[in-house]
Order: sequence, then C-alpha cells, then structure tokens
Amino acid sequence: MSRLFLPALALATLAFSLAGPAQGQNRSAQNQPSQPAAVQDPNAMAWRSGPEAAEIERRVEALLAQMTLDEKIGQLNLTGRGDGFDPQWVATGRSGAIMNFIDPREVRRLQDLARTSRLQIPLIIGLDAIHGFATYFPQPIGQAATFDPKLIELAAYWTARESRAAGVNWTFAPMVDLTRDPRWGRVFEGAGEDVHLASVVAAARVRGYHRGGVATSVKHFAGYGEAEAGRDYNSVWIPLSKLLDRHVPPFQAAIAAGAFTAMTSLSAMNGMPATADRGLLTDLLKGRLGFRGFVVSDFASIEELIKHGVAADGAEAARKALLAGVDMDMFSGLYIQHLADEVRAERVPVAAIDEAVRRILRVKFHMGLFEAAPVDPAATAGLLITPPARAAALAVAREAMVLLKNDGDILPIRPDVRSIAVVGALAMVDEDWQYGDNVGLPRIRRSTVQAELARHLGPQVRISAHSGFTTQCGIELAEREATLAAARAADLIVAVLGEECEFMGESASRTRLDLPGVQGELLNDLIATGKPVVLVLKTGRPLVLTDIAARVPAIIQSFHLGSEGRVAIGEVLTGRVNPSGKLPMSMPRSVGQIPVYYDHLPTGRPQIKHERYESSFIDERNEPLFPFGFGLSYTRFTLDQLVLDQARVPLAGTIVGSVRITNAGARDGREVVQVYLRQRVGSRSRPVRELKAFEKVTLAAGASQTVRFAVPVEALAFHDDQGRRRLEPGLYDVFVGTDSRASLAATVEVGE
Ligand code: BGC
Repeated sequence: MSRLFLPALALATLAFSLAGPAQGQNRSAQNQPSQPAAVQDPNAMAWRSGPEAAEIERRVEALLAQMTLDEKIGQLNLTGRGDGFDPQWVATGRSGAIMNFIDPREVRRLQDLARTSRLQIPLIIGLDAIHGFATYFPQPIGQAATFDPKLIELAAYWTARESRAAGVNWTFAPMVDLTRDPRWGRVFEGAGEDVHLASVVAAARVRGYHRGGVATSVKHFAGYGEAEAGRDYNSVWIPLSKLLDRHVPPFQAAIAAGAFTAMTSLSAMNGMPATADRGLLTDLLKGRLGFRGFVVSDFASIEELIKHGVAADGAEAARKALLAGVDMDMFSGLYIQHLADEVRAERVPVAAIDEAVRRILRVKFHMGLFEAAPVDPAATAGLLITPPARAAALAVAREAMVLLKNDGDILPIRPDVRSIAVVGALAMVDEDWQYGDNVGLPRIRRSTVQAELARHLGPQVRISAHSGFTTQCGIELAEREATLAAARAADLIVAVLGEECEFMGESASRTRLDLPGVQGELLNDLIATGKPVVLVLKTGRPLVLTDIAARVPAIIQSFHLGSEGRVAIGEVLTGRVNPSGKLPMSMPRSVGQIPVYYDHLPTGRPQIKHERYESSFIDERNEPLFPFGFGLSYTRFTLDQLVLDQARVPLAGTIVGSVRITNAGARDGREVVQVYLRQRVGSRSRPVRELKAFEKVTLAAGASQTVRFAVPVEALAFHDDQGRRRLEPGLYDVFVGTDSRASLAATVEVGE
C-alpha cells in the first residue's frame, strides 16, 4: 500500500455437521448474541457459466478486434489518485483501471469519462478495502480469530457493499499469504499460520466481497509472508514442495471461490522477483491452478525489477513482466511507456498483449461492468454506516477477541468490584485508527470502553478514565501521576494498550516484539500499583508476552476490532458476551524462537526429556507461550467420545467421525472443535499434526452436543521436490481438541 496516494476526500469443502443434541439437553445458548443474517445484493458478482460465458468470450473477441495497439495497452494500465494523475488518460482509453478514489462524485466523473472514450470500455475502480470502507470490521487477523467463516464472509460483504456505494468495484484483498513471523508488520492483514484456516478464510472473504459487488484480488502471489527475518520486501526462499503444500492452497481456495484477479508479490522468491517469474505466474497460477482472471503487479513492482537487478531499464522491466504473465501494471507506468515500442521492435509479440487484454476484458464482462449503472453520488451517504453494517461489525468484533489468560476468573468483572480505572488512549477515543483509512469519510462516533462499562455496570461502580498518553498512538506519556493515583485507588485496572500506530502494516517490521516504549512503561507502572490489571491488547500482530503474562492476571488479545470494537470490549469485560476467539498464530515466548508454528516437522531428536542433544534451546522452551488455536472462555468445555465411523478408509474416501462436546461450566458459550491429522510414516517426513477441519459450536451451560466431522483423504496429500502430488496409504492419527495441543486421539488406516 502506498500511503502517498491515500485518498484525501473530506477448503472449504470439508464438511462438518452437528448431530442432534445429546442426552435430551436441547436448550440453545440463549445468552449468546445472535448473528446478523446474510443479505443478497443486486450487484453480486460471480464468474458466469454456460451460454452466458460463451457469449462473453464472443464479446471479448469482438471488442479486441476493434482495438488499436495503444487502446490495448491502455487496458493494461492501472493508474490512480496521486501525483500527476490525468483524467484524460481515462477519456482517451489509456487507463483501463484506476485506484484510490473514494469520493463518489470523482468516481462518477471518471466513469462518465470512460464512457466517452472511443470504445466505451468501463473502468475497474480499485481500493485497499481490507477490513472496511466507512464501517470498519476487525482486522483480517482478528476476523480469522473468530474461526467463523459466516462472520468473515459477512465482514467482506458489508465492506464491499459500502465500497460499491461509492463506486469502487475492486478490492486489493484478501491477502492470503501464510504468516509465521510476527516480526513482519503485515501479519495483521492475513489469516495467520495455518494452511487450512487460511484457505477457509480466503474462500469466505472472496464470497463475501463478490456477494457485495466488489471483485477480489487475491494477493501476493507468492510467498510474500516468508520474508527473511520478517523484514518487509526481503528475499524469500521456499522449496517447491513447501510452496505447494503451504503457500498455494489458500490461493487455490480463493480461486475456487471465484477470485477475479491476483496480485504479484513485491519480493523475490528463490532468486526470482515474483513480478518477472513466468514459472510462478504463467505455468503455476494460470496453468496448473487454472486461474482464469488477470494478474496485476503490486505497487510499482514492475519498475522495481530494475532495483531487483533483473532488468536494465524500464523497457526491459515492462517486457519481462508482461512475458512472465503480469497482465496489468499497477502504477509504474512502464507498460504504457514502453510496450508499444517493444511490440514494434518485435521483442514482445502482439499475441502476448492480446492475451493480457483478453483476460482483463473477460473479467470486466464477468463483473457485469458493461451493464452496471454508474454510481449515484447522491445515494452514497445513505448507504454507509447503516444499521445492518454496524450490527455485522459488532457481531464480528464480539468473536474476534481471544482471552489468553484469566487467573482466578477475574473476568468477567466481578460484582464485588466497586471501582475501576480504565487506562490507555486506545480505550478513550471514540474511533479506532484503521489501517488504510479512508480519510474523510463519515465516521462512527462510537462509545469508549469506560462508557460501555458504565452502561453495563450501572452507577454503583465508580469508573474513572485516563488516557495516559498525549495521543491515541501513545508514544508520549501524559498525566502519569494522576493516572497512577487513580489506578491505586481503584479495585480493578483495565489497561487498553497496544502498539504505536506506525508499528503495524506494510513496511512495519520489528525486531523486538514487546509492548513498545511508553506503552510498556505505563503497564509496568500499573502493575507496580499492586492492583489487579486486566490487559486488553490492541496490536496488529502477536507480541511476546512472556514477562507480561507472568505479572498480569487477565489478558484479552483484541487485535484492532474496528468501528464497534469498544462496544464489544465492554460486553466481553462485563460478561454480556463470552469470548470465543482463537489464536490464528502461535504467540512466541521470545523473538529467538521465531519462526514458531504448530505444524512443524518432527526432528530426529525431538524434545522429550528436556535434555541436551535434543532439538531444543538451552535458554528457552520449544513451545510457544500461547499455541495456535488457543483461546479461553468464561465457561469450560470438555470433549470426549471421539469415534471414527470406519477404522479403514480407502484413498478415495473420507475420514468421518464424531466427538461429544459438553459445556461443563455455568455460562453459555461458543467453542471451536479442531481436528488435526498426522501421517505416521510416509515417504517424506510429515508434520507432527495439521489442522484439517474445525467447527464453531454454540452451547448452553450444561448442554452437550455430538459434532460430526469429515476429512476427505485427498486433503492429506502433499508434494515432493518435483512438485508431484502424493497421497500415501498407511496409518494416520486423528487428534481432536480445542487448540493445537488437541489430545483426544484415534487412528485410522488409509488403504489403497
Ligand atoms: C501493497 C499491496 C496493496 C497496494 C495498493 C502495495 O504496496 O503491497 O498489498 O494492495 O500497495 O495499495
């Protein structure tokens, strides 16, 4: 994302099902807020099929036949708001797509201009609508923490509805890069470390955006999340087997869900910048994966081929990118500057240009742009921040919080608490800092954490509020003594702390993963008061909490929750909502452990006795502080009666089983049943376990339910060094539980 050009206007196939409630306990969980229903939208888009698709192919060819070389190259050119943008490019067919316009009047003007161009080809209008447009939802990593594909789809749907209301019809989302290094600032934008979860989330987000009328750009193909040392844009080294096993499946899931476009990675993988990698873009993405849409470069990544050292000048960069399979040039301007000359010099065949244009026109037709009514600027405001969008934002925020620690059941806030000090600028302000914020759009003037607590706890609880910092981003302390005096006088401290605003997102890599600077200082001071501290963390990444967790009785990891976040925090702190989020990334004990993820390979010397000559650290444990899939609840769930339908399943079959889950506590709640598999012996070393299915269930206090799960055996396949797919017979362990340490186990034999 380029902050420079920010607008400045004022596998889902895995089946899970619930068997009927067991033992006559059929009471549903009444105290859990219900989820808003999905809505159908007239702008919904999807790849057409049958005669409609055939007709589109005819129209694409007919249009292509009428185009001059310049008009063709114009379709490959993505420009946008920023220095030097000239609307005439649109009027003369020299820009097929634009980005970063959010004022519907401006969008309308440009749409109208495109319709005055010789061939009247409509514009694709792009934006990083990542977790909201005017109504903000939890960041993608927080959405993933819900483990609820319906909610995730809903967030994308409303983001799309609002974007579309301003004329935006293309989002640079979802980012499906697998993220295993919290030093990388972009972990906030993905779905975490797990292949299966990331695939389910990718598909849900694509469905949601498309239902809301906005085409997706699945990104960044490929391997961007594996930047060495977590330093953004840094080199990536991924063997083919790992690329296909780990990094490609979320892209496949997005493609299967209908993603219209894909974006390249800014980085070089195995020595080849993705934007010039024909093997990656043409052979793998468009060939083997069957991607029908178009490929767009990342921001100026074509020009960056020069700095990568694989092109001597702009002409060579443009040529290499196009021939690699990059159909559209985002913002480098090199296609429009050089491709016509490259064609005339016969260094680029016109057939290669035609193929790129074909893909772009095809997408425009399938998106329905040729028939779509232009945006109506007078209607936009009424379509933003509507009650259903806000209800959806609240529903997602409620489930995105992960309760990491709750010693002595200090939460929900107990009735004997008579006074609370709410501390931290992130609790105070009535709007959240949003990544990729659309500055100038209407805002939700929303509540503060202290107001929400007051609302729920009533006048008998005294609540004081102290920002503690001079600004929301919290890099300078303010009124320190007054804050600490109030904290000392309270029964309970609620500290809402996090990373500085600039510590999150693109090019926000870190080497230390502590609560930075004065945020950490203030927390230490609060702990030193001796009063119990509930820490609500607002960060875009997992931090190292080893020291903090040893000194604070309760921690809620909330990431950034969006427009309704403070309302949801109030509900969770007071027990109106029982937290049910689960970690989509392991939280390390120390930076030196990184990368730490649950589905690692075994070693020849696994850590068993915690002795020397085992694969371990001398000064640190191997396990993360909080594992993938982990998250507490105010109630207690137990699992038992794991049964597999069949002890032997053919290679073409499906492993089907069931497990009983019981809410053994006194509150209604939601829990995520997680199913992990391990191949005991294979032709290659296989991961110690891998998530293959999950289901979030709602259970009333005391109720039990039998959850059935199904894992197609083909989901157990992996790839060898040559990229060949392997599916091997033998024994597989099935582990079921409520986090990645799942210990309920069964064994299945997969036969020929
Ligand atoms: C980012 C992309 C983003 C693009 C447009 C790039 O710098 O890497 O993810 O979509 O900018 O803002």
